[in-house]
Amino acid sequence: MLSFLHDIPLVGSAYAWFLVLLAAASYVSFYTYVVPFFIQAFLLNEQNLKNKYDAKWAVVTGASSGIGRALTEKLASQGVSVVMVALDDQLLESFHADMCSQYADVADVEFRKVGVNLGSSGYLQVIAEATEDIPVQLVFNNAGFVITGLYADVPLPAQLANFECNAAAPIHITHLFVNRMLNQGLRGAVCFTSSPAGLMPAPLTVMYSATKSFLTTFAASLAPEIKPDGIDVLVVHPSPVDTRFYEGNTHDLDAMRAFQKTAYPPTTIAACFFKSLGRFVIHDQGYFSLSLRMLMKTVDYNFLALVFSRTASISGDYTKTKKDRPLPDDNSGGLVTPRRSRSVSAVSAADSVSRSVSRSVSRSVSVANRRR
Ligand SMILES: NC(=O)c1ccc[n+]([C@@H]2O[C@H](COP(=O)([O-])OP(=O)(O)OC[C@H]3O[C@@H](n4cnc5c(N)ncnc54)[C@H](OP(=O)(O)O)[C@@H]3O)[C@@H](O)[C@H]2O)c1
Repeated sequence: MLSFLHDIPLVGSAYAWFLVLLAAASYVSFYTYVVPFFIQAFLLNEQNLKNKYDAKWAVVTGASSGIGRALTEKLASQGVSVVMVALDDQLLESFHADMCSQYADVADVEFRKVGVNLGSSGYLQVIAEATEDIPVQLVFNNAGFVITGLYADVPLPAQLANFECNAAAPIHITHLFVNRMLNQGLRGAVCFTSSPAGLMPAPLTVMYSATKSFLTTFAASLAPEIKPDGIDVLVVHPSPVDTRFYEGNTHDLDAMRAFQKTAYPPTTIAACFFKSLGRFVIHDQGYFSLSLRMLMKTVDYNFLALVFSRTASISGDYTKTKKDRPLPDDNSGGLVTPRRSRSVSAVSAADSVSRSVSRSVSRSVSVANRRR
């Protein structure tokens, strides 16, 4: 296109060098991503974390369902006892009971359940007390949920509950257990279930994308600080996973339905943690993470943000989600997490916030039996 530049001495050679450097940068960017991706996907064996860290106890948040449940089962199968943290509901109750009866004859494997709402205050103290007599060396910050809809249309307290569960809770929990490990001179690991949704602008799931982006940066920045103390950090970006994550979302988004059709089993995601822990800091799993990274290597983030801002409003998901104003209630919200009834009435019934939010804003903090 700009071949005429070659005819101009000096400018021609500078331009040629620019093209060489650009090509070199593209190769480096491409291969430094793709080679680790394929090593993680196809070459790594799963490690025994009990042996690797001489670990007796793990904490898994969101342990009652999906990826957290798969992590709990895998840890137990390796002889690691698990503190199962999740909403204080029947799901946690029955999974805890199942695990206790399954391992009733295995002396070294125990389970504690801690039923708390990570979307509101008070959970840290409950978790801290439930674990103060045990050495926790493996921490899985996994609990999370998504709110669909336009950011301004979802009441602020619900958005803040989502922020608390997805981003603030991992900050608190990580701080607690890393300090305990450092003080006791224990080796260990801190893991995060993030999402490729944090890699690019994501209209209609603004808080989800932002919290996942935060998690990845937080983990990648923490990793070098505590690696010298023998504590590894790993953040996994799963492609769509077949879990309750997609259940009960308020808006029937085409994008969410498309993701669900291509979902991987939760055991595939759990395996990523066991493969990459201590070997890598970030593990991108599956087709969606790979495609998004390739997109981001091809199109600059700033440019993509510009394109999205101009085009997202013509998508079917946007037009069917956009509401007539004014909303029936003051939607500016307070800082206090509302009762369930309030969060639902703050927007029209059809646009009530997602299943997860409704559950998370309605539950009081509680801790269940500490031992089986
Ligand atoms: N599924 C996907 O396609 C996908 C893709 C990328 C990343 N992820 C991430 O993977 C993680 C696990 O999600 P999943 O797919 O396994 O979904 P899931 O089956 O819905 O499991 C989520 C877990 O988190 C718990 N939880 C939700 N809100 C909570 C709260 N406020 N307080 C305490 N616990 C709470 C849930 O408890 P209850 O079951 O009692 O609600 C459940 O145990 C999430 O961080 C999610 O963002 C999922």
